[in-house]
Amino acid sequence: MRLERPLEKFVDALPILETLKPIRKTKKKTYYEVTMKEFRQKLHRDLRPTRLWGYESMFPGPTFEVRRDELVEVMWKNDLPASHFLPLDQTLHNVEGNPETRTVVHLHGGETPPHSDGHPDAWFTKDFKETGPEFTRKVYQYPNHQRASLLWYHDHAVGITRLNVYAGLAGLYLIRDEKEERLNLPKGDYEIPLVIQDRSFNEDGSLFYPDQPDPPIPNAPYPSVVPFFCGDTILVNGKVWPYLEVEPRKYRFRILNASNTRNFTLSLDSGQPFYQIGSDGGLFSKPVKVESIDMHPAERVDIIVDFSRYKGEEIILKNGSGCGGPVDPETDGNVMQFRVKRTLDTPDTSIIPKQLDDLPLPPKDAIQTVRNLKLIGSQDEFGRPLLLLDNQMWDDPVTEKPRVGDTEIWVFVNTTAFAHPMHVHLVQFQVLSHQAFDLDHYNETGNIVFTGPVMAPAPNNRGLKDTITVPPGSVTKIIAKFSPYTGTYVWHCHILEHEDYDMMRPFEVVQKKQIRKRKNEQNE
Ligand code: C2O
Ligand code: CU
Ligand code: CU
Repeated sequence: MRLERPLEKFVDALPILETLKPIRKTKKKTYYEVTMKEFRQKLHRDLRPTRLWGYESMFPGPTFEVRRDELVEVMWKNDLPASHFLPLDQTLHNVEGNPETRTVVHLHGGETPPHSDGHPDAWFTKDFKETGPEFTRKVYQYPNHQRASLLWYHDHAVGITRLNVYAGLAGLYLIRDEKEERLNLPKGDYEIPLVIQDRSFNEDGSLFYPDQPDPPIPNAPYPSVVPFFCGDTILVNGKVWPYLEVEPRKYRFRILNASNTRNFTLSLDSGQPFYQIGSDGGLFSKPVKVESIDMHPAERVDIIVDFSRYKGEEIILKNGSGCGGPVDPETDGNVMQFRVKRTLDTPDTSIIPKQLDDLPLPPKDAIQTVRNLKLIGSQDEFGRPLLLLDNQMWDDPVTEKPRVGDTEIWVFVNTTAFAHPMHVHLVQFQVLSHQAFDLDHYNETGNIVFTGPVMAPAPNNRGLKDTITVPPGSVTKIIAKFSPYTGTYVWHCHILEHEDYDMMRPFEVVQKKQIRKRKNEQNE
């Protein structure tokens, strides 16, 4: 039975996420083991402990903290029960006939070699007893040869990603470097990662996830995938609408939206601004002062909030974006509360620097390929919505094959009536522009007629990104350099209900012909 009354807000303290300890650390590499387990965790004062699946029995998982260029190896182990506790649609790809509990871990935002990227088909079961069609490694390697940034790791098993992540399989991954440390940003107790997620609950404390669309579709499979899902309750770091006691000083918050479908528009009810200093791919060149921040699934923001003039006050972190309707000011219009109740422990000497870091943007002078990629809405044989990329299913042959080292422009053409947060593995890209077109005209004629000017991305989307939202009836252009690895990766919508059915495609980074030729010559 669904929980009827909303849970009381701001009664639990915000949990501070734990940092994961390595098993071994040498000069050459750091080795971790992480086990996925079923466990129960108390998510709210008035809720019985909730059954979850989590890395190291934690929800969210423990946080990795690594240095740039530190070679990290992780053995991801599955010790989960053999059957899934969320409604499994057997008709999606690779679900029927395969074990129910399949897992594979992806480091989102990571420049990771293909064998360690967590390909959706590289899944494995308990103790690696069964594995997917792709080669499954027991130990994944992360070179961390990339800028300081907040990445995250989460499950990516084909056809059941939405369920595995909803069950709890997600955590943070922080890369540090010296450049960032020299900036004198708020740190230590004053730098706090926040994982924002939505969930719904049953009376007994268990997670609610729909087993079919609402209203049900006659003759559709049961259980059935749903076209989207938003929970009615907001959690931060695994607690429902928590509060945090803060000192009157500057704090740095590293925020991730780890929800399946829901996007947030964050603001502070004190009316004060955020100083955004970074996004998915690390620091901006300069801070951007913003009143509100949009966060679609998988996006990260790095912000500084200055509480120094709010001594004694209570400030609510609000959300202005509903899910298929307006927000409820009593429930999903809230994220968490800050209580500026603590006294200043030591003087605040941290700063909001005027200059942050040089942005390593992709080169614009040698664009080898421009790809037009349509986001398309269609229907399956049962009349359920089926969202596709360029009219292809996940299993269709690879069509996007950038050559390693090439710079390409990808043009996402959203012909659907919904926004889709598009994510590309391996790369951190730059958003070039957005432009609206006449969707009705497109639906009638199949032709794109632009209705507005070419718009630059919002100031806080001008840094490096790995996920960008493409508004309905619009074209979004991104530019990326595909390097340094060759191999198979994926690109997809990060609304997990879309990704599973079937808004995900492989892409392959291929060798440059010249390189192959030269190698052949050497071999002769
Ligand atoms: Cu965060 Cu392919 O995903
Ligand atoms: Cu990713
Ligand atoms: Cu989507």
